[in-house]
Amino acid sequence: MAAKTADATWRERAQRVVPGGMYGHLSTRLLPDSYPQFFERSSGTRIWDVNGNEYVDYMCAFGPNLFGYGDAEIDDAYIAQLGIADTMTGPSPVLVKLAEALVAHISHAEWALFCKNGTDATTAAVMAARAATGRSTILRARGSYHGTSPWCTPLQAGTTKEDRSHQIYFDFNDIASLAAAAAEAGPDLAGIIATPLNQHAFLTQQLPTAEYAKAARKICDERDAYLITDEVRTGFRCSRDGLWDDLGAPPDFSAWGKVLANGHSLSVLLGSARARAGAEAIFVTGSFWFSAAPMAAALVVLRRIRETPYLETIERIGTQLRTGLGEVASRHGVGFEQSGPVTMPLWKFADDPDLRAGFFWCSEMLRRGIYTHPWHNMFINTAMSEQTVAATIVAADGAFGALTASRSQLGPNLKLSALLSRA
Ligand SMILES: Cc1ncc(COP(=O)(O)O)c(C=O)c1O
Repeated sequence: MAAKTADATWRERAQRVVPGGMYGHLSTRLLPDSYPQFFERSSGTRIWDVNGNEYVDYMCAFGPNLFGYGDAEIDDAYIAQLGIADTMTGPSPVLVKLAEALVAHISHAEWALFCKNGTDATTAAVMAARAATGRSTILRARGSYHGTSPWCTPLQAGTTKEDRSHQIYFDFNDIASLAAAAAEAGPDLAGIIATPLNQHAFLTQQLPTAEYAKAARKICDERDAYLITDEVRTGFRCSRDGLWDDLGAPPDFSAWGKVLANGHSLSVLLGSARARAGAEAIFVTGSFWFSAAPMAAALVVLRRIRETPYLETIERIGTQLRTGLGEVASRHGVGFEQSGPVTMPLWKFADDPDLRAGFFWCSEMLRRGIYTHPWHNMFINTAMSEQTVAATIVAADGAFGALTASRSQLGPNLKLSALLSRA
C-alpha cells in the first residue's frame, strides 16, 4: 500500500478539528482531487505544498500577493514596526501617515478608515451609506461577491430574510436594469454597490463601460444616494487609482483590501468629503483594526505603486501569458477563452458546461508545477517574469496535448455538476 502523503495526513487531522475539514475559499472541496490542501512555504511567485511539490502560483493567495511572497522591503518594514509596536491601547501615528498617503494618492479619497478584511470595508460602506441617508435600500449587481457578512455571504445558511432585505439586484453593465432597480427602490435608495468590473466566478469576466459607471454615478447624484465601489479584488491590479475614477465616475466610498499590505492583514474604507458624515455616524471597530505593522508594510506598498512601473510590469507579463496561451491552445485546436484584464485572467474551455475539461487541464498543469484555477480569476504579480511565462507555456503545451488525447473519455465532473445545475 502506498504511504499516505503529508497532505492526506493533515487533511485527516483537520477533518477532526476544523469544520468541514477546511472552510471558505481556501477549501479544495470544489477543486480537482489532485489539488493539495496544505502548503508549507512561499517565496516570490512560488508556493510549496506539504508534500514538497513546488508550484508557480497564479492564485497569489486569491489576490494579496502583488509584489511577490515575502518581498524583503515590505516585510522588513512590517518586522521593524513589529519591533516598535503593533496592537496597542491606541493607534500609532503610522495610521495617520498611511491615511495621508492614501488620500494623496486615490482621486476620490478624502479620508480613510482602516479595518482587516475586505468584508469589513464593504459592510462599513453599506452601513455608512444608510447612516448618511437615513434610508435602507442598496442596489447591487447580481452575482457580485462582496464578502461574507450576513448581508452578502453567497450562501443563505445561517442568515435571516431580514439580513438580505432592502437589497435590489441589477445586471452588471446594464443601464436599463440599473435604472429599473433604482426606480423600484423609490425614495428609500441609500446607495449602489458594485465591483468595478464583473469578476463572477465561473463566468466570462466583463469590463465595465464608462456609460454604465457614469449612469450609476448619475443616479446617486440625482437621488442624493451614495456610490460604493468594491475594489477589494481589483485594487491596484488594473489601475494606480480607483477604476471608476479612471472612467469619470468617482465613487463616494471605496472598499480595498487584499494587496494593500502585500499579504499582511489590512483593509480600508476610503471616502469622499461628502461621504465622511456617514462614516462618522456608524460604530465599527475591531481588536486588530489599528495594528501598526501591516500599516507600515502598506506604506511601502503605496510608495511602490506611486513610484515604480509595477503596473506596466504585470500588464506586460499578463499580455505575454495571454498571447502565449492563445497561440498554444489554437495550435492544439482547443477552444480556450481568456477573459478579464490581463492582470486578472479567468480561463474557460469551449463546450465545457460542467468544467470537466477545465478540471482535467488544471490537474495536468499542476502536475507540471503550475497552480491555476478552473473557475476563479487568477492574478499576476511583479515577481513573475518572462521565464515564468515561458515555463507556463511549456506546461500548457503538455496539458493541452493531454486534454486533446483524453477529452472524449472524460467523465462528468461530479464535484461541480450539482452546483452548476442549480445556478
Ligand atoms: C470583490 C470582493 N469583495 C469583497 C471581498 C471580501 O474580502 P475578504 O475576504 O478580505 O473579507 C472579496 C474577497 O475575495 C472580493 O473579491
